[in-house]
This record gives sequence, structure tokens and C-alpha cells, in this order.
Amino acid sequence: MLDKLEILPPDPILGIGQLFNEEKDPNKVGLSVGVYQTETSHTPVLAAVKKAESDMLSKQDSKVYIPQAGDPAFLAGMNKLIFGEELLAANSDRIASIMVPGGCGGLRVGAEVINAARPGADIWLSTPTWGNHFPLLQSAGLTMQSYAYYDSLKGVVDFEAMLDAFQQIPEQGIALLHACCHNPTGADLTADQWHQLFDVIVERKLIPFIDAAYLGFSGSLEDDCLPIRIAAQRVPEAIVVTSCSKNFGLYRERTGMLSFIGDNAVAAQSVGMSKARQSYSMSPFHGGGIVGTILANETLTTEWVDEVYFMRDRMNELRAEFAQQMNNKQSIRDFSFIASNRGMFSNLGINKEHVIRLREEFKIYMLESSRINIAGLARSKMDYTTDCIARVLTT
Ligand SMILES: Cc1ncc(COP(=O)(O)O)c(C=O)c1O
Repeated sequence: MLDKLEILPPDPILGIGQLFNEEKDPNKVGLSVGVYQTETSHTPVLAAVKKAESDMLSKQDSKVYIPQAGDPAFLAGMNKLIFGEELLAANSDRIASIMVPGGCGGLRVGAEVINAARPGADIWLSTPTWGNHFPLLQSAGLTMQSYAYYDSLKGVVDFEAMLDAFQQIPEQGIALLHACCHNPTGADLTADQWHQLFDVIVERKLIPFIDAAYLGFSGSLEDDCLPIRIAAQRVPEAIVVTSCSKNFGLYRERTGMLSFIGDNAVAAQSVGMSKARQSYSMSPFHGGGIVGTILANETLTTEWVDEVYFMRDRMNELRAEFAQQMNNKQSIRDFSFIASNRGMFSNLGINKEHVIRLREEFKIYMLESSRINIAGLARSKMDYTTDCIARVLTT
């Protein structure tokens, strides 16, 4: 039977990461895979995570199953984090969440719940969006549609075009939004623009499906939760997926939360749990246990928030330095937008030939779309990287 199967091509993002890992050149620069890195290209375990983990393990006396919705301390802490105490209290009967295996798990289960309510539903995604959105949502049965989002020449959100596109989405349409640190562009809406967009969402009775994978990597955690909180206040129904992979550095632990907002949230939650039961049964505990321990402890929470903001500030410094060096070294393209983009990613806006030359001649690895992970730009590699990019652009 298995001999009928063919080897599939590698995942477009993970595949480039694999090529990078196999590269022998010591000068190689890896800008493809989306993980935070230090100056020495290391992705550390956060100190708050280490402490919470050892505290949690020292108290753990059983590995018995957790409740189907997930660890109660995790759900309580995460809901308070994303909605804020007041809004959560005011909407306690309109919000129901489940623990999920990372943002991917949340997107997939969320899509399955949508598909159970509205089989084959259309879902509108930004152009461009994170490549994995398509297989995650499509495999649940949803139908992909797109809305204009990005001005690739200026490296910013084309807000007029976006508003226009939202005006065209049929009433009750579902729109996937990135809460902050848009992947792959790093181009985000301002607070004002979020309010304006929600005016249209409310007017057109649209249903936001918010993907929050980078909370705390753009502004403050509160700032980055703005679209989630506006949704809870202004729309009858919304779905939110929160990943703990990046801001807690829990990538491999597969930790996230899927939240339903609406009068029928508890029914949606039950469908989500049933969809999970049909595949992986229930979420793993370990990462959620760590997050729940951190968020239930004020000292650990403060330490964690400081660590998140440290990562954010470091990426912003790298952005500023990269933009300045690129602008000093060539005049083909103005790279100032890199400094104002936020989060881990930006699209350089260079063509595929340039990307391939960078990889083959200079061992600088990025996605073919020219998306780079800013955190991969260690200071020690900045000069080399900007020199090489300027060189391929000008020769
Ligand atoms: C936009 C976006 N959503 C969701 C995820 C899911 O992350 P994970 O499943 O690792 O939590 C990612 C990860 O790269 C992402 O960039």
C-alpha cells in the first residue's frame, strides 16, 4: 500500500531552513525560518519559562489527562492576557476557549469549526499572507478568497485598498486578520486604522478570524491585543487564535489557545473540542502548564514581559541598523520601510533572481518571496549581509 505514495516536496519555509542547516560555509546567514535568535544565532529558553517549568515539574505528581478544554490555569491566564480583566468579566458568557497545539492547531481546529457551521465557507486572506494559512484552512474545507493589503513598493499597508476590499466582502463573510507583526510583510495597521477597519467590519457584518502569533513583538502586549479587544466589544461573533510559540519561546511545545466570541461561544467550543477529539484528542499539557504557571505569578509575569520586550526592542534595533546600512550602500530601493515594519518579518521586495544569487553566491538564505526574519540578522553579520544585498541589486 505505502508503495503507492510519492515523496512530497519539502515545506517551502521549512525546506529552505533545511538547506541552510546543510550549508557548510561558516559565513552563511539564515533569514528564512521564523524563530527569534540571539546575536549568536541561538534560540534560548526564556528565564521565566525555565523557572516556571521547574516549579511546575516539582509540583507535578500525575500525568493524568487534563480537562478536554485544556489546563484551567492556562486558559484563565491567557484569556486575561488577551482580553484584559474588565472586558473578560463583561463578556464572560460570550467567550469560550480551548487549549490547542500551537497557532497551527488553533487555525486548523478553528477552520474546522467554521466548516461545521458553514461547509465550504469562503474565507478572505490578506495578499500576501503566511504561506501555511492556505493548507491549514483549505484542508479543513474552507474556500480561499483574498483581500488587498500590501503596497509592495512602499513596504506599508495599502489601507485604502484594504478598506475598499472589505467593502466588497459579502455580508457575514469571514476575514482572517493578523493581530500584529503581519507575516510576511511586517506592515501593520495603526490603532486608528484598526478602528476604521472595524467600522467596515461592523457595517458589513463580517466575522473576524484573528491570528495572534506575535503579541508583544510590536508594541506593548496591550497595544498588540487591540484588534482582539475591539472585536470582543464591537462584533457579534469572532474567533481568535493565540500562539505561545514566539512570545513565550515555546515553539516545540505546541502551545496556543483558540477562543470563540459570541452568544453561541460555548457551542462553538464544544464543536472545537469534538474536532480535536477526532484527531489528536486533546492538547498537550507541558507548554500550557508553563504559561499558566507564569501568568498566575506576578513576579514571573513581570520577568516574562521584560523578556518579550527585550526581544522586541532588539529586533527593532536590527531593523533600524539594516535600513540605514542598505540606504547607505545603494540607491536602487529605499529600505526605510524595514525600520518601521514590526515583528520578525519583512519582505525585502527584491526579485527571485536576486534571492537565488544571494543564496548561491553569498550563502544568505531567505524565502523566494524575499521575506526575511529580522532576528536572523545578527550584528556580526549585518555588514556582510547588507554588502551582499547591495551588490546583487547593483551588479
Ligand atoms: C501568522 C502566523 N500564524 C500562526 C503561526 C503558528 O505558529 P505555531 O503553530 O508555531 O504556534 C505562525 C508561525 O509562524 C505565524 O507566523
